[in-house]
Amino acid sequence: MSKKIKTAHSIINGQPYESTTMLEVQNPADESLIAKVSEVDTRAAENALNYANACFIELKETTAQARGDILYRWYELILQNKVRLAELVTQEQGKPLKEALAEVAYAAGYVKWFAQEAERAYGSMIPAHTAFHQISTVKQGVGVVVGITPWNFPLAMITRKVAPAYAAGCSFILKPSELTPLSAIELAKLALDAGFESAAFQVLVTSKPQDLVKQLNSHPTVRKLTFTGSTAVGKLLLEQTAQSVMRTSLELGGNAPFIVFESANLEAALEGLMIAKFRNAGQTCIAANRVLLHRNIKHQFIEMLKTRLSALTIGNGNSDDVDLGPLINSAAKQKALNLVLNAGQQGANVVYQGDSMQGNYMSPVILENVEQTMAIYCAEIFAPVVSVIEFETEEQAIQLANEVEVGLAAYIYSTNSEQLHRASLALDFAMIGLNEGAISNPAAPFGGMKQSGLGREGGAQGIDEYLEVKYLCQRFN
Ligand code: SIN
Repeated sequence: MSKKIKTAHSIINGQPYESTTMLEVQNPADESLIAKVSEVDTRAAENALNYANACFIELKETTAQARGDILYRWYELILQNKVRLAELVTQEQGKPLKEALAEVAYAAGYVKWFAQEAERAYGSMIPAHTAFHQISTVKQGVGVVVGITPWNFPLAMITRKVAPAYAAGCSFILKPSELTPLSAIELAKLALDAGFESAAFQVLVTSKPQDLVKQLNSHPTVRKLTFTGSTAVGKLLLEQTAQSVMRTSLELGGNAPFIVFESANLEAALEGLMIAKFRNAGQTCIAANRVLLHRNIKHQFIEMLKTRLSALTIGNGNSDDVDLGPLINSAAKQKALNLVLNAGQQGANVVYQGDSMQGNYMSPVILENVEQTMAIYCAEIFAPVVSVIEFETEEQAIQLANEVEVGLAAYIYSTNSEQLHRASLALDFAMIGLNEGAISNPAAPFGGMKQSGLGREGGAQGIDEYLEVKYLCQRFN
C-alpha cells in the first residue's frame, strides 16, 4: 500500500502560497518521501518583504500587553497540539518521539517566556544634566527580521527567535531548513490561529537557500538577521549583513568539553553524558564533543559507558522504546564515519561500536586516545561518537578544553565545589553545566563566545536582540 504524501505550503501574508515548484521532504528513518512543499520564487519573496514591512508599521500600533496575550495563546495552542507536532518532528527530523515531545515543551517554553517578557521591555529615566531637561530611553522593535533556522530542533530554534521578535513588535520572515519545513509551517499556522497579524510570521520554503537569503539580506526593509547553524555559514552571512550594517545574531557551532574530574560522582557524570552526548543522536550544537576524563577514573568510566550504550535501542523514532533515531541524512553519517576513520588512522582506538549501521542509523562509537592533531578534535561531530581525551591535572584539562576556536557549552563534573567554581571561571565557554548535562532552558541566555556566535537567545537578554534603544532628550524651557 502506498503511503500518503502530504502537500504543504510556504506561508505569505497568512495565506498558503501556491507554486509549481515543490520541495520534497523525506523521513530520515527510511528516506521515504513524506511531503511536497511549495517553494517561493524571487517575486514571492519580494511580496513577503513588502507585507512584512507593512506589518511592522501595523505592529507599532499594538501594545506589548496585547502581543504578550497573543503569544500566550500561541503557547497554549502549541501545547494543545503537542502530540501532532511531536509526530511531525519525528517524521521529518528523525528524533525519538519522547525527545520530540520534549522539544515541543521546550519550544512552547520560549513562547511562554517571551509572552511574559513582552511587558518588561522597560525604558529608563536618566538623571539630567540641567533642571530643565528630561532624559529617558525607550525600547522599540528593530524592524523586519529574517530568521534562518536549522533542522536539528525544527520547532524550538524557531520559537526562540519568533517569540521575542513578536514580543518586541517586529514582523518575521522565516527560512526554515529545507530538510524540516513542515514543523515550521505548522508553527506558523498555530501562530495565525492565536491572533498573529497576517504578515507577522511568514514562512518561505526553498531548495535554493543561498539565493533567497541573499535577496532577503540585501533588501532595504530588513533590519535584523538571526541565524542558527554552522560557524562557516555564519561567517558568510555576517559578510552579507555587513553591507547594510544590519543587526545580526548568530548561534553557531560548538565543541563542548565534558570534563570528568577524579572526585566526580561517576554515576551522575554518566547520566549527564547520556543527555549531553546522545540527545538527538548527538546532533546538537551543545553536544559533548570532547570527553575529558581524569586518568584515574578513565577506565572505569568507559566501562560504565559501554554497558549503558549496549542497552540503547536504536531505530525508527516513532516506536516508544527507541532511544536513538537515525541521523538526518547519509551525508551526516558519512561525515561522522570519516572522522572516526581518520582518527583511527592517526592512532585513536575504537573501544566500542554497536552494530546498528543500516541506512542513516549509526550506533554509538567510543574513541579513546583522541589527540589535538586529529580532525575529530576540532570538528563538530554531530553524531553519537564519544571522543575521549585523558588528562592528569586541572590546569591541563582547562587548557585542553579552551584550545579550540569556539566557545558555546561546556560541562564539568566534580564533587569539589571550589574546583567547580575555579573551572567554570577559567573556561572560555558561554554556557556551563556544573554536574548537569541538560542545560537548555528558555529562562537562560543561550549563545556562544569566540566563533560560536553573537548575541543571546532566551533569558532576560533574548528580547534585546530585537529592540532598539532610543534616547530622548527633552528640554522644558
Ligand atoms: C542547538 O543545537 O542549536 C540547540 C540546542 C538546544 O537549544 O538545546
